Amino acid sequence: MGRSFASDNNTPVHPKIMQAIIEANKEDFVSYGDDPYTRRAEELLRHHFGAEAHPFLVFTGTAANVLGLSAVLSPYHAVIAPATSHINVDECGALENITGSKLLTVPTTDGKLTPSQAAPFLHALGVEHHAQPRVISITQPTELGTVYSQAEIKELAVFAHDNGLYLHMDGARLANAAAFLHTSLKDITADAGVDILSFGGTKNGMMFGESVILFSKKAASSFKYIRKQGMQLGSKMRYLAAQFIAYLNDHLWLKNAEHANTMARILAEKAALLPGAEIFQPVETNGVFLRLPHKAIKPLQEKSFFYVWDEEAGEVRWMTSYDTTEKDIDEFIAEARAVLQEIHEGH
Ligand SMILES: Cc1ncc(COP(=O)(O)O)c(C=O)c1O
Repeated sequence: MGRSFASDNNTPVHPKIMQAIIEANKEDFVSYGDDPYTRRAEELLRHHFGAEAHPFLVFTGTAANVLGLSAVLSPYHAVIAPATSHINVDECGALENITGSKLLTVPTTDGKLTPSQAAPFLHALGVEHHAQPRVISITQPTELGTVYSQAEIKELAVFAHDNGLYLHMDGARLANAAAFLHTSLKDITADAGVDILSFGGTKNGMMFGESVILFSKKAASSFKYIRKQGMQLGSKMRYLAAQFIAYLNDHLWLKNAEHANTMARILAEKAALLPGAEIFQPVETNGVFLRLPHKAIKPLQEKSFFYVWDEEAGEVRWMTSYDTTEKDIDEFIAEARAVLQEIHEGH
């Protein structure tokens, strides 16, 4: 396939993660998380997210979102989320199917939700005809690569809590947001008032590895049953845990995310000079969102595959990852320039 700018999911596993899996593969250990690897991974997660964090390892980001949210949802509840959210667009209705709750979606320009956009939904509170708003769900960084500041998250958390709601954060790429803000993982989660977090690793160098982190002891007390019933209690948990240990040790999570973000900035600088290309979102993490002439998209995808974000608008997403190199970028930009120039000259 060659180097892909389609998704950070397309990368190989980081060598340090692979090594950690190999090293965990030497002898028998008790299954279902009652092993030293899982205990160490949970300890490290508490180190990064604070003593109030209750971590649970799971296999996929969709499971982390749906199971984390189901800790506080009943079928008569609703979740307020940006229309672009992964739970709304890319999880095949899993949240609605598993929890029976309704998603209330908000159109945004940059993927970020504000309290004033969520406020109109709260008129439903206490009215039996309406699904009851229970959670505000945000993604950090957003699906459009933009980042909430700690202050923006805090404002949403205060707003949610003042109205009896929880704040959920989809942090499938949380490392990239922390790298952009030059801050800790705790600063933009526990310290900002997040109640339920999905913290991912797959997109930043792991083979498979996501987690649900609950910041309430009460919600955490029954979550082990939710995870098992949700089919995410891994029998060979140690292989998930070994990855998290390598990921959280020695700042691997941060180094990988910083590199991916830097590569996106370089990609964006070069893409901005392409004829007919227009970047339409600030490049804050590892995604570059741009408009291209419709006619250019297919021929360029045939050279290097990437995803179309909005077919009608000609919007595409180019994504970098922990192992993107400047050489990859130069080759990709050269391909794009050739295709765009040909179209520009009317061939
Ligand atoms: C923002 C976000 N959340 C959650 C997920 C879900 O991850 P998975 O595909 O592992 O279910 C993704 C995957 O692309 C994502 O981009």
